[in-house]
Parts: sequence; C-alpha cells; structure tokens
Amino acid sequence: MDQLRIVGGTPLSGTIRISGAKNAALPLMVASLLTDSPLVLENIPDLADIRTLSKLLASLGATISPEDMGEGAGRALSFHVPTITSTLAHYDLVRTMRASVLVLGPLLARCGTATVSLPGGCAIGTRPVDMHLKALEDMGATITIKDGYIKAEAPSGLSGARIIFPKVSVGATQNILMAATLAHGETLMENAAREPEIEDLASCLVSMGADISGIGTDTLRIQGKTALSGARHRVMPDRIEAGTYAMAAMATGGRITLEGARADHLQCALGKLVEAGADIEITADSITVGRTSGPLLGVDIMTEPYPGFPTDLQAQFMALMTLAEGASMITETIFENRFMHVPELMRMGADITIHQSSVLVRGVPKLSGAPVMATDLRASFSLVLAALAAEGETTIRRIYHLDRGYENVVEKLRGCGANIHRESDNQDTPDL
Ligand code: UD1
Repeated sequence: MDQLRIVGGTPLSGTIRISGAKNAALPLMVASLLTDSPLVLENIPDLADIRTLSKLLASLGATISPEDMGEGAGRALSFHVPTITSTLAHYDLVRTMRASVLVLGPLLARCGTATVSLPGGCAIGTRPVDMHLKALEDMGATITIKDGYIKAEAPSGLSGARIIFPKVSVGATQNILMAATLAHGETLMENAAREPEIEDLASCLVSMGADISGIGTDTLRIQGKTALSGARHRVMPDRIEAGTYAMAAMATGGRITLEGARADHLQCALGKLVEAGADIEITADSITVGRTSGPLLGVDIMTEPYPGFPTDLQAQFMALMTLAEGASMITETIFENRFMHVPELMRMGADITIHQSSVLVRGVPKLSGAPVMATDLRASFSLVLAALAAEGETTIRRIYHLDRGYENVVEKLRGCGANIHRESDNQDTPDL
C-alpha cells in the first residue's frame, strides 16, 4: 500500500490542467453497451475507477482500445460491443465501485435480461438502488433479488413510462436515461438530477441517435429508438477536481490557474469561495483562484443536488474552513455518513463539533502535521488539503481511495510547489 508524505506551509502557485470528469466518463463508458458500433470517448482520465469499469465492460463483451490524441490532448478510448457476450455483472467487479450498477438499464434494454450484483453499502452511507429498480419495473421489467444479485427480465423489451423520482438521484437518472433510449415509446422522467455529468451523457446519447428533450432540466423526455449508432464524444472537465484545487490554492494562501475548468459548472462553490475571501478570475477556458488581501472567513454551506453545493466538495471545504476566521456550519443533506474525515482533521488540530447532519467548524490559526488515514475518495483529499496548509509533516495512509478519483495528484501539486511524496507503506492492509 502507498502513502503520501506532505510537508505543509508552501503557498501553491502555478497552473493545473483539469482532467476529464470521472463521474461523467463512467456513465459514458457504460453507454457503449447500447450500440454495436464503436463509441470513442476523448479526455478519459487515467484512474482506478475507470480501470475497474473497463474490466466489467470487457467481461460483458466490450473491446477497449486506446486512440492516439497527440501530446496534451488527453486520452481517448474506443469502446466497442458488437455483441453482448454476458449479461452478468459479477460481485467482484461491482463491489469496489457502485457506478457499476449503471450497466443494469443498458443491458436490460439491449438484451432483455441482466443479472447485476447489488452494490452494497459504502463508507459514506447505505446508498440503496431502490429508485433504479422501481423505475425499471415501471418500464415493464420483472425484478427479483436473489443471493445478492439483481435479476431483471424484460423479454419483449422495455416500454416507455412516466417516472417521478421521489428523490434526486444522479445514478438512477443516468440508468433510466440510457435504458429509455432503447425502450418502446416515450419515457418521461420527472425530478431527474440536473448534474452537468447528466447533460454530458445526454448529449453523447443524442450524438448516438437518441431522441432526448429537456436536457439540462429536471424533466427529461425520451422517445425510444430501435438502435443507436456509434459516436465520438469529449468527456467534460472534472468540476470536482477543479473545485478541490481551487480550495487548495485558498488553504495555502497561493494562487492556481485551473486550465480547462468550467466556471458555469461551479457557480455555487465559487460563490462560497468568494464569500470566504477568494479572488477569482474567469476566462472561457480557465479559472484562477487566489486569496484577497483580507482574511479567510468562515462561511456556512449545505450540500444539495446540482446546482446546489456539491456533496463531493464538502470534505474539502471543511478542511479549508478549519483555518478560517470565525465559524462555519456545514450541513450534509445527500449522504448520511459523510463526516468520516472529521476525526482525522481533528488529529491535525481542527476544532470541529458534529451534530447529526451538521458540523460546526471553529477556525483555528494553524493546523499541525500528523499521521492520518483516508476513509473515502473525497475525504482523502480533505486530508491532503489540510496537510498542504499545516505546519510540519503529515502522512496519509490508505490513499488507494485517492487513486480512484484524482489523476496525477502528486505531479499536479508538485507542479505548484507542494512538498509531497508518494511512498510505499507496508504496515497497512487493503480493505476494499
Ligand atoms: C453520484 C456520484 C457521487 C456523488 C453523488 C451525489 C458518480 C459515479 N457518483 O453518486 O460522486 O456524491 O452522485 O452527487 O457519479 N438514493 C436512494 N435510492 C436510490 C438511489 C439513490 O435512496 O435508488 C439516495 C442515495 O443513498 C443518496 C442520494 O439518493 O442519499 C443521492 O444519491 P445518488 O445521486 O444516486 O448518488 P450516486 O449516483 O450513487
């Protein structure tokens, strides 16, 4: 197992090229199951989650091949599934990454049958898939759960339906959107998630020949087609990665240009950073974030579905707030157990009190380095952020979480002057 060793206290300054978005790339890769022609995806980040999903898609019949894009243009991969060779998504491939459950809708729509392992819980909460299943049942599927697997059948294909989601779910919206493109008739989805990653998926599906209206709104209307074609699509920039590095600039009192980042995807988070004392410059293709000459101020946030403050930036924002003047109330409304970074931040000197789904962060003048442990993907980066701002040395163990979602993190941070090293740590055991 690797660990990170960080000596904090250097203001980070420079330019970071933002990678393709993991959370957009994963559903886009799954969309390749909907067609027998190649789907070429540009700007795919090189991450553990991408490799895990590639393995799963290969086990279902996908041939995955790289395409040369030239220096600095990001990676392109071609996904080609001429025939589905298996409709079984095995537990071993689903358990490490919940997004694997997205293969359910497309497999069912293309083959009339799918057996997908239930993903189970994860560190940040129970994360059920009941809304995915209920919506597929509304579209005519018969679903049974046996031996930890979801067995879904629709021998005559799925039929369009009116689906009103009781709660906003990114994954359920993506699963049903993909299934509906090959269903008989019209599907109407209400209270659909509006995250930019869904817009990215919908626009790729349209390039593949799907008929979707309402893209970017919470009501999506899809007219099913008998087949979709291949396409070429560029994965959107990772707004969570961009927001994370923006907070790293703020926490260390430096200034970072986030190349390729889109400010329109980050309006809520950037607004909160401005309230906290950020000086932000926006161009068509970059965001530059630094601090004004004033102090870093405590600001309250509440996580919400897009366009609200993203839950995937909550842990990083909390790390930033540990050093603010005054207090900050942080309320998590999406996941029930997403404060596991709190005890680790407190080991570094943060003053944080948890009360149910909120935490009160009272800013302290400085954090100090300590050995800490990463618990989930975004929580890992909150520790990196705290370590970059802290006095002294921090070691962060279990960084395989970080590898799931941040591309070239050590290189990107070093490029901005961070004192950060990756080294092997033989004392830890994997608990994936
Ligand atoms: C996606 C993102 C994740 C992000 C989350 C919320 C990917 C690969 N992952 O996860 O990074 O944190 O959106 O923005 O894109 N729920 C149910 N029943 C369901 C489905 C969801 O109760 O059938 C609940 C979940 O437990 C959670 C909430 O709905 O409390 C939102 O979850 P959802 O939007 O589905 O998250 P994911 O798609 O899993």
